[in-house]
Amino acid sequence: MSESNNIQQNYDVLIIGSGAAGLSLALKLADYTRIAILSKFTVSEGSTAYAQGGISAVLDAQDSLESHIADTLDAGAGLCDPEIVKLTVTHGKESIEWLKSQGVAFTEEQSSSGETQFHLNREGGHSHRRIVHTADATGKAVSESLVSRAKQHPNITIFEHHNVIDLITTPKCGKAPDRVIGAYVLDVKAGKVKSIAARIFALATGGASKVYLYSTNPQIATGDGIALAWRAGCRIGNMEFMQFHPTCLYHPLGRSFLISEAVRGEGGKLILPDGTRFMARFDKREELAPRDIVARAIDHEIKKRGIDCVYLDISHKPNSFILEHFPNIYETCLKLGIDITKQPIPVVPAAHYTCGGIVTDQNARTDISNLYAVGEVAFTGLHGANRMASNSLLECLVFAEQASRDILKNLASTPAVVAIPEWDESKVGDSDEEVVVSHNWNELRNFMWDYVGIVRTDKRLSRAMRRIELLKSEITEYYSHFRVTSDLLELRNLVIVAELIIRCAQQRKESRGLHYTLDYPEADNSKPAVNTLLTPDNLLPRN
Ligand code: FAD
Ligand code: SIN
Repeated sequence: MSESNNIQQNYDVLIIGSGAAGLSLALKLADYTRIAILSKFTVSEGSTAYAQGGISAVLDAQDSLESHIADTLDAGAGLCDPEIVKLTVTHGKESIEWLKSQGVAFTEEQSSSGETQFHLNREGGHSHRRIVHTADATGKAVSESLVSRAKQHPNITIFEHHNVIDLITTPKCGKAPDRVIGAYVLDVKAGKVKSIAARIFALATGGASKVYLYSTNPQIATGDGIALAWRAGCRIGNMEFMQFHPTCLYHPLGRSFLISEAVRGEGGKLILPDGTRFMARFDKREELAPRDIVARAIDHEIKKRGIDCVYLDISHKPNSFILEHFPNIYETCLKLGIDITKQPIPVVPAAHYTCGGIVTDQNARTDISNLYAVGEVAFTGLHGANRMASNSLLECLVFAEQASRDILKNLASTPAVVAIPEWDESKVGDSDEEVVVSHNWNELRNFMWDYVGIVRTDKRLSRAMRRIELLKSEITEYYSHFRVTSDLLELRNLVIVAELIIRCAQQRKESRGLHYTLDYPEADNSKPAVNTLLTPDNLLPRN
């Protein structure tokens, strides 16, 4: 690579990702500074737009911050950071008010005294009704409002179909101290790589659930931000805690479609093909136990009985109730021939949420001073070993606020942009074997599902790791010979993410929260629970 002054574009803050985290951060900064947002697909595509159940916040007079904190800590199975939980929960109400001020129309109802108030859903692990929502399509409402605000703001420039390849750090250019000075970005439509410089960078790239064969997540959820941060030298933590949502639709034409936990919150019952209920055998909270317990129970029943799926039945509720509360789920299922007012819905667990990620502090700072990470990409300490339903969008909002305050405080003292090396394509050509990429994608997601899924063993993890070594070397070779494409970039990142998940899982010699292994089926309560922290091999451990 040759260094030149040819910086094609530069901004004060470069935000990578246009979900709830990235857009909220941009909107909170934009009155004060110049922002660019990069999105590797369309601006609206990401997990945010698919969120159903809603956003947790203490708004009911019967509820309390203490109760929301206690429920979150309980679901997190000893690994939540209590200070981070308190910080997040305490900012619930103002986060909802901020979203309302941005135009999000939440579902409302009349109170007994005739006042208009938010309708609150109930979900697993929550001991009160505290989920603010827009029917059963909350994410769509949030995304549409934030995208519309961001598009109107004169200080925000949005680049769609721009896929970040790598962060450029000062050590990579032989400079100190450790900072990010730019990013290499594939302009997917033009097929060209740009260099974009900025003073401050924020990763808001979402989760990594597409590392598994079956997932509720959209195609973009390939863990890019985690891989980018890892290659840049940041610590990654708790990747063994991949959350499987218990109820993903089981239908050949609707594989990724989620059946919201709110369906169980409103009385939906899980049943076997013969109509019998089974959750009472696993937890006294039955259908409203935390997700890890419900997902494992379903997995157990499916494997034990050799059945394809179990069923979620809400048909005992009045039709009008179902249509009012779950219009999106009703319509989608009906198009596939399932009338949820009359028949149970076939469901299976699927990979849903990445509880671990880039290690950040309470201001969303990573190990690199001018690099922030916000949203599902980050490991803040909020979720511990298992995220409680609807705490994720809340985390996006609260940490966007925390990051924005910190960025604005530090912007004046942050150095100006510097020259960054150009992308060098002189030694690569066009691929003549794209099949290598598609084959390896499929292989990776299959063995991650089979060996590193809901139930793990030491043997399965070692088997998966051996395959990772092979894939890594093939992909590295392919990457060094051929021009980059989005598929190749995602595969390169997914392999790193898979390796991080396996390495974390191998280090945890116990079962806790979402990490369940037959070799150590109990939690090790003989000593305090610790997070699994990985430091890039080429670096000294950081504090
Ligand atoms: P996302 O919304 O996933 O956005 C990621 C962004 O990063 C996208 O714009 C993408 O294009 C961009 N990006 C990624 N990689 C690159 C790259 N290399 N270059 C450029 N851009 C890149 N949580 C709740 O709290 N409540 C719910 O009800 C709820 N329901 C859910 C339902 C479903 C079906 C799913 C999948 C998740 C749900 N979740 C829910 C989880 C929640 O939606 C996500 O955790 C949250 O939306 C993540 O927001 P984010 O901004 O971090 O990432
Ligand atoms: C759901 O609606 O079940 C998803 C909620 C979440 O993932 O937080």
